[in-house]
Amino acid sequence: MRTPYYESTMHKQIREKRENRKERIKSDLELYGSEVLRSEEMSRAFEQTHHKWSTVGEHTFRVAFSSVMICYALRKLNIKVSIPAVVIGSLCHDLGILGRYEKFSSEKECSIEHPKESVAVARELIDELPEKTEDIIERHMWPAGQSKAPNSIEGAVVSVADKYNAVKDIIKGSEVNHTGVKKYVQDEREKIREGIKDLVK
Ligand SMILES: [Fe+2]
Ligand SMILES: [Fe+2]
Repeated sequence: MRTPYYESTMHKQIREKRENRKERIKSDLELYGSEVLRSEEMSRAFEQTHHKWSTVGEHTFRVAFSSVMICYALRKLNIKVSIPAVVIGSLCHDLGILGRYEKFSSEKECSIEHPKESVAVARELIDELPEKTEDIIERHMWPAGQSKAPNSIEGAVVSVADKYNAVKDIIKGSEVNHTGVKKYVQDEREKIREGIKDLVK
């Protein structure tokens, strides 16, 4: 007979802490990014495949969640960081890649040009987009895509969160190709959609 699983006090505390943090991140995204979350572009982002198994929308949310989480950690170390700039920057960073096959003639062109296109989308969505946020978006591809290096701590946060999540996407993609765990990946995708659908309606 299987031993019943009892959640220890420590595990319960860790789980509750994670859940609270997730709620806090969601409310920061809602507070500072509502124009982007409710945009036509964000809806379209869930229709375009990205990094093999993901979509632009799912990737965007992962980058945004990771970016805000890094900000909380930095603030604990008394490092000043602007969460509004990180929220807008991370939510908009790849919106310029929508329609990539019509817009760009090659992968290389897409990699170099989509950050500028993302800035253009962000300018449409946000009144008086701050220069710092433009720079976060325009430089997010660094060190790839012939991009200039981030020029702010917020830019570095989004660039690192983007790489981390791009690698995660690609590794999961390779799991799909080599081990056939497609069902697992599909379940994860649904979980992500479930978690954010209240934010993107
Ligand atoms: Fe990008
Ligand atoms: Fe990205």
